[in-house]
Amino acid sequence: MPVVAVVGAQWGDEGKGRVIDYLAQSADMVLRFQGGDNAGHTVINEHGTFKLHIVPSGIFNPNTTCLIGAGTVVNPANLIQELDALEAANVRTDNLYISERAHLILPFHPLLDGLEERDRRGASIGTTKRGIGPAYADKAARRGLRVGDLLRPAVLEERLEPLILRANRKLVDHEEAPLEYEVVRAQLLHWADRLGDKIIDTLPLTHHTIREGRSLLLEGQLGVMRDLDWGTYPYVTSSNPLVGGACAGAGIPPTAIDEVIGVVKCYGTAVGAGPFPGELRDEDGRRLREIGHEYGATTGRPRRCAWLDAVALKHAAMLSGFTSLVVTKLDVLDHFDEVKICVAYLIDGKVVHHVPDTPDLERASPVYETWPGWRTPTTACRTWSQLPAKAQRFLERIAVFGEAPLKHVSVGAERDAIITL
Ligand code: GDP
Ligand code: IMO
Ligand code: MG
Repeated sequence: MPVVAVVGAQWGDEGKGRVIDYLAQSADMVLRFQGGDNAGHTVINEHGTFKLHIVPSGIFNPNTTCLIGAGTVVNPANLIQELDALEAANVRTDNLYISERAHLILPFHPLLDGLEERDRRGASIGTTKRGIGPAYADKAARRGLRVGDLLRPAVLEERLEPLILRANRKLVDHEEAPLEYEVVRAQLLHWADRLGDKIIDTLPLTHHTIREGRSLLLEGQLGVMRDLDWGTYPYVTSSNPLVGGACAGAGIPPTAIDEVIGVVKCYGTAVGAGPFPGELRDEDGRRLREIGHEYGATTGRPRRCAWLDAVALKHAAMLSGFTSLVVTKLDVLDHFDEVKICVAYLIDGKVVHHVPDTPDLERASPVYETWPGWRTPTTACRTWSQLPAKAQRFLERIAVFGEAPLKHVSVGAERDAIITL
């Protein structure tokens, strides 16, 4: 397994954490390449149940080096909390390092995220309020602080105060209490103390791993439909979850990536606002949510549910060029008499086979293909031939839209509940 990118092919929560945890059993390195602690990557293995937010999902293999890459935004307070929780569960975290080039989510970023959502009123994005947008905005405006700056007192001295003053103007404008420079500075010094020896230049390590022919997993956050450029803008996150984001965020040329795995949940979910064609507000939607436990791993919000959107999947395949697919949560569909796939959109009376820009997508209704349900438990299946024939046909159809062969089918949340093809 050389250099393999693992990316979400839908609206996020496809099961990326579960897939990375499985693949990381034989990976030398796992690198999270974008996003921040807006992620909720659920992993269930012999150590317990974990919802990872910023720590790479390879952390459970003590032989895997885990990197939080340059393309991420890091809230050290939440990272420290996550590391403490892992240590308390006897999971070693000494193999985790953070890129000095990753940007810091500072204490005012989550506050500004909340205020900006409030200001959007009826058009709010439904962000996780983790400060992701404001932190990436500071990065793009070239005034952000980076993780490495924690170890550079002179840089902090020069650049922290103006950032706080700027944020305070907004806070006061919204009748919120301003932050005190000395308090924030002390917090940053504490973070430096606690995380200092984990902050490194990740580039030499990453490229050494590649040159030695060792295995590297690139872990994506969220899914293509929330990509800043190609998702349902403005109802997106502030980074690029598609595979191109892995090149920039990890510092790897596209030619070094050997495989691109698209993680596809066999139905759709979304949290947050924005168009989500075919959202099921009926009994099927309620059953998908309950059987699939579709509640946000980060915010606890009920996830919006839909049948698989193959138009979005084709969009993802076009953007990320999957070399293989992992389909997750097949077992959730065991309970349905029939299952559907949205194969096209109907927009203003026209059948559309691609993902249009957001205002048009808002008017899309789904055109379905209906497949017979298999009504047989699949959780105990460990080989392709053990799967019911009707489930096999359904999975083969997904592979057509994902434009890549199936590599694994996940039939349960636990690490070993997976079929390899
Ligand atoms: P991620 O953000 O892409 O890592 O996905 P999440 O962890 O947010 O959401 C996936 C959810 O489905 C988690 O609760 C997983 O434990 C669970 N899960 C993953 N794969 C399977 C599966 O094959 N079957 C079932 N029943 N649950 C799964
Ligand atoms: P994982 O990695 C699902 C959604 C939010 C909102 C939009 C922007 O677990 O798949 P943000 O806080 O990033 O500014 O919010 O993106 N969102 C997610 N939805 N899974 C996630 O992560 C998400 N991270 C952000 O609900 O619609
Ligand atoms: Mg998630």
